[in-house]
Amino acid sequence: MTAVELIEKKRDGEALTANEIRWLIDSYTVGTVTDYQMAAMTMAVFLNGLNAEELAVWTDAMMHSGEVLDFDLIKKPKVDKHSTGGVGDKVSIPLVPMVAACGVAIPMISGRGLGHTGGTLDKLESIPGFTASLDRERFTSILEQHGLVMAGQSESLVPADRKLYALRDATGTVPSIPLISSSIMSKKLAEDLDGLVLDVKVGSGAFMKDEASARTLAKTMVGIGSAHGTTTVAYLTRMNEPLGHEVGNASEIVESIAVLRGDGPADLTEVTMVLAAEMLMLGGIEDSTDAANRRLEQVIASGEALELFGEVIEAQGGNRHVIDDPSLLPKASHRFEVKAPISGFVREVDALAIGRAAMSLGAGRETKEDSIDPGVGITLNAKTGDSVDQGAPLATLAFNDHDRAEAALPFLREAWEIGEAPTRQELIIDRIDG
Ligand code: URA
Repeated sequence: MTAVELIEKKRDGEALTANEIRWLIDSYTVGTVTDYQMAAMTMAVFLNGLNAEELAVWTDAMMHSGEVLDFDLIKKPKVDKHSTGGVGDKVSIPLVPMVAACGVAIPMISGRGLGHTGGTLDKLESIPGFTASLDRERFTSILEQHGLVMAGQSESLVPADRKLYALRDATGTVPSIPLISSSIMSKKLAEDLDGLVLDVKVGSGAFMKDEASARTLAKTMVGIGSAHGTTTVAYLTRMNEPLGHEVGNASEIVESIAVLRGDGPADLTEVTMVLAAEMLMLGGIEDSTDAANRRLEQVIASGEALELFGEVIEAQGGNRHVIDDPSLLPKASHRFEVKAPISGFVREVDALAIGRAAMSLGAGRETKEDSIDPGVGITLNAKTGDSVDQGAPLATLAFNDHDRAEAALPFLREAWEIGEAPTRQELIIDRIDG
């Protein structure tokens, strides 16, 4: 078998056999298939796709390119959640302790923010002392002891994806449904899960701008999960405007704590509850949405979910007192208000523009090597459907560097559309299962 033969086959629209795919992924992982050959292959896949059998094998080969986790010793059901990424999307942070407080174990492996989308790990690492870099032993011991852990991908987990993602990023082959779905699912299926809930974001602030492609991505990932024997349910949720009022890192921790106190913004709470309830059902803890919602409301009202968040912060080296005292979190030194140019109703707050503004401020990173400034961010004072008077604040910028604030302003000035009252759009668009 040679790489050139396989590239030619895929270039000409033929399907690759299981052996060919496994050989290709293994050889690329060890370096005997070169970056330039794999670049040609990913472009051929980008153009010609993979059929369902090819995709299942491609994902499985990626998953087995490194260590596959084994949590047999953990007797609770293991369920995780993954979001395809958005702006202000801090759902995992309140959701994980809520679901874990109900008896589901969550070995969550998350990512960092890149481009206009934020990353759960960056938000968590704004908590003083908190680390998302855990070795296998510490990861498992925290999971065993507390029933939840939130960490980054180790070097040994799905190394094929680490190489392939960097290559795709440099060759214009990221937005391919088979490549995105195999990348996400190979990492999730390596977590030894009983169930998986996917939040596929749709809209200006998401990877998938339109509902049709988001639906195809969701169905493709659900199909991969089912082929692997892991019950997978996907939700299509709207990401035209940021979730919640805070876009940043430390500020999103404060907002997540509000959800855990039962006091979070309505949109963020709605998405968190829907996904959390599904996780309780996948884990066999409850058998109806109503029962799952009641259970989740109980662990919020009793303070168990918040207490568990404090426990996991401490177990991962962080200062748990942030849950009672937000002033312990990093804070930017300057504030600036963006004011409404006219009176009217907010028709739209463009998530992509807000995400770009946050990145300009230093809350996100343009390249993987950039560092982030955890205290900066944007507070949205007016969201879709709100009425505003001319001169009222639309957003408050928290910043440390005047040049960066200047760079963020043009994005913010174009983010709000003000006019007639808009018609309300549902946040949860659809549920897709196998
Ligand atoms: N997230 C991933 O992990 N992989 C992709 O290809 C896209 C988003």
